Amino acid sequence: MKEVKYNGLTFEPYITREKIQARIEELAKEITARYAGRKPLFLCVLNGAFPFASELFLNVELDAEISFVRLKSYEGTSTTGVVKEVMGLTEDISGRPVIVVEDIVDTGNTIKRLVDDLKGKNPAEVKIATLLFKPESLRCDVTPDYVGFSIPPKFIIGYGLDLDGLARNLKDIYVLKENAD
Ligand code: HPA
Ligand code: MG
Repeated sequence: MKEVKYNGLTFEPYITREKIQARIEELAKEITARYAGRKPLFLCVLNGAFPFASELFLNVELDAEISFVRLKSYEGTSTTGVVKEVMGLTEDISGRPVIVVEDIVDTGNTIKRLVDDLKGKNPAEVKIATLLFKPESLRCDVTPDYVGFSIPPKFIIGYGLDLDGLARNLKDIYVLKENAD
């Protein structure tokens, strides 16, 4: 695996596709065991989570369903700044176990907003599955339930994660190179 460049920034290999797939298979087994006999709704948060959601969903052995939401950001008039509105949730989630599928939990602001919104719709429960988690960056009261990899607060791309919309189609995950050599 070689370094890659996007927008003048250099990224180096960080997590291989093989490691990603093996870890997702483990998470899928855990979820399969925990939800035995139930029909969870996987809720993939677009755009970044689609490769993770796809791989996870294909590996769970349950009568599960999947749907997709996106979060529209806009500047609020309140002091909280950017507010995110949930778009595209057409399913009735009342009484259902929901698993929100994210690419990354960083500050936690996005997922917190989404989970609070979903909880207002009377689901049986809401759990969070995230491929990546940056615990040191967390600024909200949320705890992801299923974590692929906990990583330090470094900028990463690939396997769904983008830099200004690019690099989502990299098969492996890359990290921003800090010191040019
Ligand atoms: N990479 C891409 N998108 C992100 C990241 C990251 O490290 N953290 C939050 N969104
Ligand atoms: Mg992104």
